[in-house]
Amino acid sequence: MKKLTLNAKDFSYDIFFGEGIAADITSLFALKGQKTCIISDSNVAPLYLEKVLAALGGGATSYVFPAGEASKSLDTCAGIYNFLAKNEFSKTDALVALGGGICGDVTGFVSSTYLRGIPYFSLPTTLLAQVDSSIGGKCGVNIPYGKNLVGSFYQPRGVIIDTAFLKTLKERDFRDGLAEVIKYGFIYDEKICQWALSGLSQNLSDIVFRCVGIKKEVVEADEFDSGLRMILNFGHTIGHAIEKLGGYEKYSHGQAVSIGMAAAARLSEKAGMAKEGLYGKVVGILEKLGLPTRCEYEASQLLSTIFNDKKIRGGKLNFVLLKDIGQATVYPLDKESVEEFVEGAL
Ligand code: GLY
Repeated sequence: MKKLTLNAKDFSYDIFFGEGIAADITSLFALKGQKTCIISDSNVAPLYLEKVLAALGGGATSYVFPAGEASKSLDTCAGIYNFLAKNEFSKTDALVALGGGICGDVTGFVSSTYLRGIPYFSLPTTLLAQVDSSIGGKCGVNIPYGKNLVGSFYQPRGVIIDTAFLKTLKERDFRDGLAEVIKYGFIYDEKICQWALSGLSQNLSDIVFRCVGIKKEVVEADEFDSGLRMILNFGHTIGHAIEKLGGYEKYSHGQAVSIGMAAAARLSEKAGMAKEGLYGKVVGILEKLGLPTRCEYEASQLLSTIFNDKKIRGGKLNFVLLKDIGQATVYPLDKESVEEFVEGAL
């Protein structure tokens, strides 16, 4: 088993890596008899809930919500608040997120707001959640005006990255996570692209460990997303707009981010940040990994949607651009430039 420790502002927490280690949840999370509620969704619960409840020794309870982006909502949170209150959960008890990104985001947000804060732990079951969303305490829900518009920064008390969970992932869900994996290669460490291209399955645990190591470094440097952490949003501004235009059904998060990364690579070139050829390299890598690089929306359509994005400051979009593969930078661009530069990449 490997371990990393993330030093957040208020406390440090351990991130454990290994195959089959979820069975040791009680000792790894040092749970000492507090009331525990596992939050999961209707896809993950039938596969793993009983096993995790058993590993917790029988005293835990659970709350399962319907799988899907529609559940990343204040209504789902309200259901969980009521369940916790009815079962007399106090501030010294704990929640465990068992699932993918949506489950982690909802559980983290509920934990940060129920009784003004209750500890939570993460047991991410998807590649996307293992390499990104379960680490760093960014949590929240969607409202009709956009994705993640309501949320908080609230760190988990521990994370178990059990690669055995990845074995039951559907192909589409695996590719979704792969987009986030390759994002780390584009913004921070080119080696990840090489590992992914040269043998994804044999390099997978090293890749996951390296991605989480990068996330840890970035979060420690900028926990509250006012500088360096923004690079983790590479491809996400356009990606979120694609997801929204597709009604959160047509394009998965990973597909949308992949298309968004290709468009952001083109922006990087056209804005003079990167040398010509970068867009072609980025698209080549994404295509070799079976990830999409184009969608049917016009740049103008995407930009009206993006204008509701919470990351906009002072009429300009803070775009994460690449200087080269492995080197990201944040650069403000106005709407007209983005529209002109992105046209032709979508
Ligand atoms: N998923 C991006 C971040 O945690 O900042």
